[in-house]
Amino acid sequence: MLVIIKNQREELEREAARIVARAVRRNPSLTLGLATGATMRGVYAELVRIHREEGLDFSDATTFNLDEYVGLPPGHPQSFRHFMMENFFRHVNVNPLNINIPDGTVRSNFDEYCASYEASIRNAGGIDLQILGIGRNGHIGFNEPASSLGSRTRLKAFSQETLDDNRKFFAAGEEMPKCAITVGIGTILEARHIVLLAAGSAKARAVARAIEGALTASCTASALQLHPDVTCIIDEEAAAELAQKDYYRRVVELTAQFTPSRLW
Ligand code: GLP
Repeated sequence: MLVIIKNQREELEREAARIVARAVRRNPSLTLGLATGATMRGVYAELVRIHREEGLDFSDATTFNLDEYVGLPPGHPQSFRHFMMENFFRHVNVNPLNINIPDGTVRSNFDEYCASYEASIRNAGGIDLQILGIGRNGHIGFNEPASSLGSRTRLKAFSQETLDDNRKFFAAGEEMPKCAITVGIGTILEARHIVLLAAGSAKARAVARAIEGALTASCTASALQLHPDVTCIIDEEAAAELAQKDYYRRVVELTAQFTPSRLW
């Protein structure tokens, strides 16, 4: 894993957007794996700016989102589809036919639906670049603790920590989603390149477990240690519990000197 520590959250967002922009310029028909969440908001804002000001062209790209709540009425403002439309797709030129987000309105035959989402990823040639955030409990997508590290797209119930984290998004008394459709850890690990983003002190423990902890299903982001091409971009607050910060900085310096293409 290449660990890049940025002073400020804004720098992290710019760096992540620069990586996506460079990947799209190199291969305009690439397949992007996309995430939602507060950390991603600034990344999409910067991508929208690059699209408007520098003409970054998404018209041949295909996108697959990681996850979606199950049980919300269509168009609910907290749905990940709504998040993606408002923060990104509405402002750029991704072909709507090439946008894939798990359908949280499915009510039956989940296994069949999830298998078809996996098949769509395969038919698109697999994910070229997967962007990930991380939950406080170390989840990626909605792969909660004790998920199989070989898991595929499926229906996943939320842990108590995730239910608590999500409460702030819903009105008092409103019924909250208890589960989601999420791509699996096995699905994520098949992406060619992976970029993990984390900002803020609430993520410090999860980041340390993911990068320096044991490979364990109790922190599903630790499975990224098995992948040959992961770049973690984190801010100082999220890096606070890492034991090897100086080492990661030296690695980035030497990478810039000897294999700059690894830094995108
Ligand atoms: C949700 C999503 C994850 C995301 C996480 C972090 O749990 N399922 O994919 O990584 O939120 O979100 P935030 O950036 O808001 O902390």
